[in-house]
Amino acid sequence: MELKTLFSPEKIGNVEVKNRIVRSATYTHSATKDGYVTDEMIKFYTNLAKGGTGLIITGITTIDKVGTIQPGQTCLYDDSYIEGQKKFVNAVHEISDVKIAPQLSHSGRQGLTPIAPSAITFKEGDRMPKELTNEEVKEVVRNFIDAGRRTYESGYDMIQLNAGHGWLISNFLSPFTNKRTDEYGGNMENRMRMLVEIYNGIVDEVGKSYPIIVKLQTQDFIDDGLSLEEGKLIAEKLVDLGFAAIEPSGGSGEISRLYKIRYPSKKVMAQEDENYFLPAVKKLNPIMKDCKSILMGGVRNALKIESLLQENMMDFIAMSRPLICEPNLPNRWKEGDLSPPLCNSCNRCYFSTGSGIVACTVKDKLLQEKLNS
Ligand SMILES: Cc1cc2nc3c(=O)[nH]c(=O)nc-3n(C[C@H](O)[C@H](O)[C@H](O)COP(=O)(O)O)c2cc1C
Ligand code: SF4
Repeated sequence: MELKTLFSPEKIGNVEVKNRIVRSATYTHSATKDGYVTDEMIKFYTNLAKGGTGLIITGITTIDKVGTIQPGQTCLYDDSYIEGQKKFVNAVHEISDVKIAPQLSHSGRQGLTPIAPSAITFKEGDRMPKELTNEEVKEVVRNFIDAGRRTYESGYDMIQLNAGHGWLISNFLSPFTNKRTDEYGGNMENRMRMLVEIYNGIVDEVGKSYPIIVKLQTQDFIDDGLSLEEGKLIAEKLVDLGFAAIEPSGGSGEISRLYKIRYPSKKVMAQEDENYFLPAVKKLNPIMKDCKSILMGGVRNALKIESLLQENMMDFIAMSRPLICEPNLPNRWKEGDLSPPLCNSCNRCYFSTGSGIVACTVKDKLLQEKLNS
């Protein structure tokens, strides 16, 4: 089978992406300690761009100081970041016709200073986040909107909002972490209000033709958490609102740490472990209309994804770990070498980002072998 669909162009909103391969947001810990662009970050991303990916989502980019997870994370909470971000986006655009977006994010209850819709813990004795006041929620919404305007001014092709993985927006979506009684809690419309206000506010600033996409928590994988049934209802509202694409996801760092449920970065050791968010993509498929669907999570088999694309199950696929390991993977597949990615799911990359730029066991081994030969 030829990879005809995988390497055909498709639009997200009015932006044409040259193929169906998205780099799923990946925190690389490559900014300065204050969140400014570095040469190392430019080098990392220009190298990734050369490898043939169609759309790069960079990684969690904080919209305010409290939303940071650690020094070294990219920031967009002040106009002083725009100059460096422009230089970064230009450098990536110059390398190829790749499109690029940041992932606007607030770390919420998983951050350095944990804040949340409600002051509750997952497990007794764990960190207690501070409950945001109504005024503070509105301030966070404003900060997201301002970061959206800075994204546009920096020259990015689109925005991804991070509404997954236990970060702040998903804390509001989930009935487990959101027990509020004001207009931001209670029924689904109220739990979605923060995300809807952020979307509408950014559209007001930058116009409707600038695509806004979302990595969306569709399920928490815990009792009393967000269910896939409700995740679908949320997605349906976001489609009608005007989001240009949805990348269904689930789980969180906190749930992974406490309950050993390893979403979103599950190990992929056998074929049956692949495409683990396909059930979510399938569930959302009937409601997607013009909104593009992105399959993420354990995407490893070029022929399998080609046939899913041909069946119109989704419009794009996204990968994180395979592209850390092999930035050139899209070109390799395009040139006809369809062997699976070299990534062995060891997840060292996931735990490496506290101390320097994201690292990869396989990449290091290959480099060592090259040096020794
Ligand atoms: C090192 C690392 C950093 C990540 N950073 C982010 C991030 O910034 N934002 C996000 O939404 N997901 C992040 N993820 C999750 C990935 O985007 C992706 O959803 C997950 O790893 C599953 O895809 P994969 O099987 O292709 O790796 C990260 C994953 C890894 C391994
Ligand atoms: S460190 Fe391990 S899991 Fe991460 S990209 Fe490399 S091989 Fe894959």
